[in-house]
Amino acid sequence: MSSDQRPVRRMFGEDTTIQDLKDHMGPFVAHLGYKFNTETEFVDEVLASEIEILDRDGDIYCPCRIRTGDPKEDLKIVCPCIPFFADQFAALGKCWCGLFILEGIEDGAALIGVIEEPEAGAEVDVPVCRLEDLPLGSARHVKIGKSDIAVVRVADEVFALSNLCRHAFAPLSDGFVDGYELVCPWHGWRYDVRSGTTDHPNADVRTYPAAVRDGVVFVSVVLGRAR
Ligand code: SF4
Ligand code: FES
Repeated sequence: MSSDQRPVRRMFGEDTTIQDLKDHMGPFVAHLGYKFNTETEFVDEVLASEIEILDRDGDIYCPCRIRTGDPKEDLKIVCPCIPFFADQFAALGKCWCGLFILEGIEDGAALIGVIEEPEAGAEVDVPVCRLEDLPLGSARHVKIGKSDIAVVRVADEVFALSNLCRHAFAPLSDGFVDGYELVCPWHGWRYDVRSGTTDHPNADVRTYPAAVRDGVVFVSVVLGRAR
């Protein structure tokens, strides 16, 4: 049987409303660290498109992706598709369409609209926190995709490095900042936040470019190589 002839499997009734979709998706994406875009009109437009697609094709396929016709493949573009593209979306701060944005982003206006999937190897700046939430001489843990990163503030500069101590994998962000060094909370190994080098042999950690723009801390990651 070709995919076009398969019986339609309905997850939502014929009278599904935009509010029904919001009620269904909101708690699920919150669990993943996302929320609806702050641009409410845009959100309603996208969800209205999804309801049209539901009526026509039997499921809430993404309005900004093209179905392949292979049901297994197309499961990856049933909204919300965040679990299937977790790394890419975390790096972008949004899903492809911009319907969902990372929980910490206050204004999603700049993130609306469709983008194409960036190629592996593309470098993207990820907003990770507000500078005011990173006090001088402190570190905090942020997650970009599957990468655990420690963001550190020293004077007017911010730095980002792997959050995992190479000794026994303690979370470095739980340690303390001493000058340009982040000191591991468990056994005191010291990591230079500028270079990721440590005072123990063969145990350096990787660093990431970090910068502050308009009071927001950004960390640059290379897609497909963020770990
Ligand atoms: S890209 Fe966004 S709108 Fe499209 S399916 Fe994924 S979560 Fe939904
Ligand atoms: S786990 Fe970091 S020094 Fe032991």
